[in-house]
Amino acid sequence: MRIFSGIQPTGIIHIGNYLGALNQWVELQEKNECIFCIVDLHALTAPFDPKTLQDLILEKAIVYLASGIDPEKSIIFVQSQVKEHTELTWLLNTVTPVGDLTRMTQYKEKSKKFKANLNAGLLNYPILMAADILLYQTDVVPVGEDQEQHVELTRTIARKFNQKFGQVFKVPEVKLSKSGARIMSLQEPAKKMSKTDKPESYLGLFDEPEEIKGKIMRAVTDTGRVIKYNPKAKPGISNLLTLYSAFSGKSIKELEKKFKKKGYAEFKKSLAELLVSSLEPFRRKRKELLAREVYVQEILKQGAKRAQVIAQSTLENAKKKMGLT
Ligand code: AMP
Ligand code: TRP
Repeated sequence: MRIFSGIQPTGIIHIGNYLGALNQWVELQEKNECIFCIVDLHALTAPFDPKTLQDLILEKAIVYLASGIDPEKSIIFVQSQVKEHTELTWLLNTVTPVGDLTRMTQYKEKSKKFKANLNAGLLNYPILMAADILLYQTDVVPVGEDQEQHVELTRTIARKFNQKFGQVFKVPEVKLSKSGARIMSLQEPAKKMSKTDKPESYLGLFDEPEEIKGKIMRAVTDTGRVIKYNPKAKPGISNLLTLYSAFSGKSIKELEKKFKKKGYAEFKKSLAELLVSSLEPFRRKRKELLAREVYVQEILKQGAKRAQVIAQSTLENAKKKMGLT
C-alpha cells in the first residue's frame, strides 16, 4: 500500500507527536511504500518568519530521521520542492465547493483567530492538502483526529474530479492514530499535550536530561498516594503510567504491581530515569545529523526527485483529462 502523510515545519515535536504519529510511521514503512512530506507551503498560511523557515524545515527533516524514518525505505521531501503540488491545487480548486471549505472546523477556528487579516490560503488549505495526497495515488493517510475532516474532503474532491473528467485519482482512506497514544499535558492532565502550551506541560523529543527530570518531577498529580491507572479519578498518574508503559514496553498492570508500595516521588524518579535513557538516542542522532547538514539536504533532494516522478505522472494525466494538453 502507498502511505502519505505530512507535518508542518513549524512548532516543536513532543513525545505526544512521537507516540501518536511518528512511531506509527516508523512501523508503517516496514511493509508499505511511504511518502513523508514537510509541508512548508501549508506553513505560509499562519504568521511566519522567512529568515528562520529553512532552519525549521531542516529541523523537521532531522526529527523524521532521528525518529527512525529510513530514507532507504521511505521518501522524505519538502513540499515546495515539487512544484506539481501547487499546480494540481489550482486544478482541484475548480472542482471544490466553497461551502465545503467554509464549514471545515480548522478554518472556522483559524478564521476567528486571524480575523483581522484573514488570508485566502487558510480557506484553500485543504485543497493543497488534497493535492498532496492525490498526486501520489495514496491508499492510506495516517493523521490525527483533527485532520480527518480534511481527508474526507480530499475523498470528495477526488470523486468529483473523477466523475467530471474521468478516472485519475485513487480515493484514499484515513487512518487515525491509535487511541491508546493520547498523551496528556504534564501540567493539566485533563488536556491533550500540545506544543502551543507552556514548555513545562510537554516533553520535547530532544529535551535534555535536566529538563526531563524537572518536568516529570513537577508534573501535576492528584493528592492520593496509590499508583493506579484511572484516567477519570487520577488523570495525572494515569498519564505518567501511559508514558512509562509506552517507553518500557511493560503493561500498566505490571507497572501498578511494581510500584504498589512506592510513593509518587519514587515513581516519578524512576520514570524520569527511563525517559532520560529512552530519549538519549534521539538527542544523539539529532546532534549527529546537525553536524551533517549536507547529508540531510541530499536526502531531501533525492526524496524530491523520487516524489516528482510520481507526481508528474498523475498531474499529466489530470491535465490531459481536463483538455489542457
Ligand atoms: P500536531 O502537533 O497537532 O500538528 O499533530 C501532529 C501529529 O501528532 C498528529 O498525528 C497528532 O494526532 C499527533 N499528536 C499531537 N498531539 C498528541 C498527543 N498529545 N498525544 C498523541 N498524539 C498527538
Ligand atoms: N494539514 C496537516 C496538519 O496540519 C498537514 C498535512 C498537509 C498533511 N498535507 C498533508 C497530512 C497530507 C497528511 C497528508 O497536520
